[in-house]
This record gives sequence, C-alpha cells and structure tokens, in this order.
Amino acid sequence: MKLSDNTILITGGASGIGLAFANLLHDNNKIIVCGRDKARLEKLKNRLPEIATYQCDLANEADLSRFADTVLANHPSLNMLINNAGIQYNYLFTEEQPHAGFVTEEVRVNLLAPIQLTERLLPNLMRQDDAAVVNITSALAIAPKKCAAVYSATKSAMRSFTQALRYQLEGSHVAVFELVPPLVDTDMTTGRGDGKITPQALASEALKAIASDKHDVLIGKTKILYLLYRLLPSAAYRLLKNS
Ligand SMILES: NC(=O)c1ccc[n+]([C@@H]2O[C@H](COP(=O)([O-])OP(=O)(O)OC[C@H]3O[C@@H](n4cnc5c(N)ncnc54)[C@H](OP(=O)(O)O)[C@@H]3O)[C@@H](O)[C@H]2O)c1
Repeated sequence: MKLSDNTILITGGASGIGLAFANLLHDNNKIIVCGRDKARLEKLKNRLPEIATYQCDLANEADLSRFADTVLANHPSLNMLINNAGIQYNYLFTEEQPHAGFVTEEVRVNLLAPIQLTERLLPNLMRQDDAAVVNITSALAIAPKKCAAVYSATKSAMRSFTQALRYQLEGSHVAVFELVPPLVDTDMTTGRGDGKITPQALASEALKAIASDKHDVLIGKTKILYLLYRLLPSAAYRLLKNS
C-alpha cells in the first residue's frame, strides 16, 4: 500500500497511537480524525490546520451513522480507514457490580463501531484504485488478561472479523491489515506495566509494514508472544493472565 496521496480516516486520531499515525502521515496524505474530546481535536486542528477533525462518539450509533454520512459527503476520495479508537476498563465480574456500562461501552467502541464504520465506508473504499482497512487489535486478542475480559474478547473478535473481511475482499483493491501492538505508552496504559514502546515507534514500524504489504503487523513483543502461543499456548496464556 502506498503511503502518499491517500485520504485517511483515523478514528481516535487526536491522541495516543492514532495521533502518532496522524503526525507521520499528514505531510503526504489528507487526514481525517474523529474523537469525543473537543479540546483535544481543537488542539490538533490549531497545530495542523490541514487535518479535518470531527467530534463524534462512536459508542453512539446515531452519532456514528451521522459521522459516516459526513465523511462520505465531504471526503469522497477516502481510501483508507484506520480503526484505532478504543477503550479499556479493568474490572472483575466476580467483584464489582454493576459494570454493565463498562461492558456496553467497550463492546460498542472496540467492536461494533469499527465493524459498522467499515460496513458504511467499504463501498467508497471499493470504488478507489488502492484502498485499505487497518484494524488495531491487541496482544490480548491472542491471549486474554484476567481483569480485561471484555476488552480481550472485543479485540479477539476484531481479529476474527479482520481475517474474514480479508477473505471477502480477496481479489479487490482493498487490503485489510491487522496491527497487533505490544504495550504502548499512551493514556490507555497510564500506570500499567513496563517496557512500553512509544506511539511514534509503533506507528513508524507499522507504516513500514503496511508500505511493504505485510498484512499481519505484529510489533515488538507481540511477535514473540504469537510464536509462544503457536508453540505452547498455556505459556502464552500464563504470561498475559495477570499482565
Ligand atoms: N496502548 C496500548 O498499549 C495498546 C496496546 C494494544 C492495542 N491498543 C489499541 O490501540 C488503539 C489506540 O489506543 P491508545 O493506546 O492510543 O489509547 P488512547 O490514548 O486512550 O486513545 C484512544 C482514542 O480513542 C478515542 N475514543 C475512545 N472512545 C471513543 C468514542 N466513544 N468515540 C470516539 N473516539 C473514542 C479517544 O478519543 P476521545 O477520548 O477524544 O474520544 C482516543 O483518541 C485502541 O484500539 C487500543 O485498544 C493499545
């Protein structure tokens, strides 16, 4: 996939990993970013006025649908969708009640929203000569973490969705990438774990892989984790259980 002259939608592109992608791609591509936090979107817009920013709560189906309409109307050249927005809550079903709000939000943002956005935008992507969907999953899609049951489940489901979508798009001009990051130093991981890589390092390595048409983009420690999972699944599970 060439990485210039594209029109790229990055969900959650005003912070963390999404912002790192926006920073690396905006010189040579038209970038569209969405998120809920108005102040963060404005900050990005002030720094990089050429980026199109939209406030949208992807957990809200009506909001998502309006946003998809706006993107299609304002950016008909859209040819790349980076499904990056995500949320992670840590809680135990055995201890904390009620967590219904967390469950719904995680499923909506991490699973339903990227699927629905893909569904809405795919016809437009399929009309382009060269297009891509990039789904960001997680090491927890390979082996789950005890206190992140729903997050791990959504990422695992996204992994499966990504592979099936890839099958459906075989022979088309739309490539489907899965990015599996290790622990990255962003708001999401504040106070969690060590040995984090920067969002810039992640995005830079991911873009190299995408430019070389490597569709399964495992970065850093996730490469080792996947190998371990293939050889000795129980060891991979043990490693991530309380990670
Ligand atoms: N950090 C890691 O170690 C790590 C590892 C593996 C995978 N990932 C995945 O990488 C992706 C990016 O995560 P990150 O680490 O960069 O986290 P982050 O810094 O917390 O960024 C998450 C982004 O998602 C947006 N977002 C969250 N809920 C949203 C909603 N309802 N509607 C619209 N946008 C929403 C946020 O924007 P607003 O708050 O403005 O809405 C924010 O820009 C996620 O899919 C995450 O699961 C991260």
